[in-house]
Amino acid sequence: MTQPALSHDVSPEFASAVRAGLTHAPQKELPSMYLYDEVGSALFEVITALPEYGVTRAEERLLTQHAADIVAHVPHNAIVAELGSGSGRKTRRILEALCKKRPTTSTTYSPIEISRTALQLCRRELGDLERLSIVGYERDYLAGLAEVSKRRSRDEPLLVLFLGSTIGNFGRLAATRFLRDIRGMLLPGDALLLGTDLDKPVPVLISAYDDPIGVTAAFNLNLLARVNRELGGTFDLEAFEHVARFNPDARSVEMHLRAKRRVTAQVRAAQLNVTLEAGETIWTESSHKYRVNEIDAIADDAGFACRQQWVEQDWGFAESLLVAR
Ligand code: AVI
Repeated sequence: MTQPALSHDVSPEFASAVRAGLTHAPQKELPSMYLYDEVGSALFEVITALPEYGVTRAEERLLTQHAADIVAHVPHNAIVAELGSGSGRKTRRILEALCKKRPTTSTTYSPIEISRTALQLCRRELGDLERLSIVGYERDYLAGLAEVSKRRSRDEPLLVLFLGSTIGNFGRLAATRFLRDIRGMLLPGDALLLGTDLDKPVPVLISAYDDPIGVTAAFNLNLLARVNRELGGTFDLEAFEHVARFNPDARSVEMHLRAKRRVTAQVRAAQLNVTLEAGETIWTESSHKYRVNEIDAIADDAGFACRQQWVEQDWGFAESLLVAR
């Protein structure tokens, strides 16, 4: 049998994550961070425009309506860091409001992204803002934030943006741990603006994560396509289907890839042969949903005080301004 080709630069981290995830018993899994290669990031942008996926529009409405109010709580000389800038569209509202608040001095904005493509997109989206100096960090969130915090001068407070309900892609305990890690890099008085998608009826959630034209299915399947492309995998994509299911205990929507029949594949760079029985799934993402009053408690646990919340009621989304104690 001929060996599948390997792309020139194999990521050893990706290869070992795939090996660990696909040998994990009883539930095979792949980390959701690998959904976002160039194709996955482009598909996610399309998801944000789908009528069934109200998350992004709800947050945009909140930020459009309340940006001035939000920045009114932030010291006038704050610098801004964003964990996972995405396209930068939503951030524009906050940055415009901050720049307006200080018409003579410039504002420093540091997007932190592991993807170079996302940083380039963000620069393109926000590059036209006057008096905004963009200093991007191609790092993981915590390493990037540590760098921003280290480089600021003593009198510069920090506003950290963590938007889009990305916190929902962490398990609940991991989410608190992550907020604690963020807090560990901040000084008292620094702020974190946290976007969280709220609980809503299960059918609404399921159609948000299993849309009728199949964009989310493509987004999910692209993960196996990526394993094939980058790690020399031989997964037959036709043999898998996208599944979105609600987990009532975790209050999360889970995405899985389900084998329609018995499937065997090899992943050359991960030195792995894998078999899935018909009906078996690979768990690829969880999206936890929150109750407004839960955020207060999590913030408190992580060393923040919840200064104010803005809630979008039509879809169900909250923006919370947390201040480091
Ligand atoms: C990025 N993240 C907040 C999205 C979510 O809603 O969990 C990712 C996503 N997965 C499927 N659709 C959107």
